[in-house]
Amino acid sequence: MNRFDSPQAAREWCRRGSRSGRSLGFVPTMGALHAGHLGLVRRAVAENDVACVSVFVNPLQFGDREDFDNYPRHFERDAELLESAGCAMVFRGTPADFFPEGDDLLREDPGPAACGLEGEQRPGHFAGVATVVKRLFEFVQPSQAYFGEKDFQQLLVIRDLAERLNGPVIVGCPIHREASGLASSSRNERLTAAERERAACIAEGLFAARECWQSGERNAQRLLMELRKRASNGALELEYAELRDPLNWSRGPLTGTVERAQALIAASLGKVRLIDNLRLDGTHS
Ligand code: PAJ
Repeated sequence: MNRFDSPQAAREWCRRGSRSGRSLGFVPTMGALHAGHLGLVRRAVAENDVACVSVFVNPLQFGDREDFDNYPRHFERDAELLESAGCAMVFRGTPADFFPEGDDLLREDPGPAACGLEGEQRPGHFAGVATVVKRLFEFVQPSQAYFGEKDFQQLLVIRDLAERLNGPVIVGCPIHREASGLASSSRNERLTAAERERAACIAEGLFAARECWQSGERNAQRLLMELRKRASNGALELEYAELRDPLNWSRGPLTGTVERAQALIAASLGKVRLIDNLRLDGTHS
């Protein structure tokens, strides 16, 4: 596997590959890789001639300096995991490599999918994500790019971005969960064993709402009540719990009778903020 310490070196490698007509699958990450990331990587490896991964903790998408500073970083371990997953190239770089314009950098408009929920709780977050992903696409020029449904709203923002840019095909991948149901996340590393156990009730709330749906409930408020009841425990601070139309984000929070629903939740456990979501109808993760 090739390893590059700058996106400029990675760009050269990608250009050589694309000139020989090979399809390139790309998985952007912020590192501290876990089974969720590796699922995306294996899929990119299986569906393309070659697959590559970026590892860059993007300062533009963090509102809170502390969260950025505490974000786990283990590049050597990440590279080993990627090599065993069949990845052909990994690259990283400094903020100055990615954004040489410094303070003159123009931020990308993340579009209407950035409204509400994460966009509201974390002002500027999706503009930071869209800006770095646009830049990553410019460097790599992938045929397909892989993103997790774990960050459901991010996936919608990226789909819009790729369409606007005439960019790669965006492949959405199901959420990987730990045995307890807790969605795998780099932030789980910052939880103690006891906190990790308590965090499982976020997923339990989502599963309870889906069971409610499966037994015929279609009223948004009652589905949400079930979610909140099961997801609440003393240790967790619920930030939001909402139902949205997965095919029409701009409809906003769903109320009354619903025909399909994505349940989305954010909660904090001490200083660690966790998000999760589940499609209540259908077969998604
Ligand atoms: P990061 O949080 O490292 O996630 C990289 C990719 O892995 C994202 O597409 C995310 O949705 C996916 N992912 C994370 N946990 C997952 C899980 N449990 N199951 C399935 N997929 C999962 O998301 C980012 O980085 C950044 O915002 C980035 C897109 C790299 C831009 O900086």
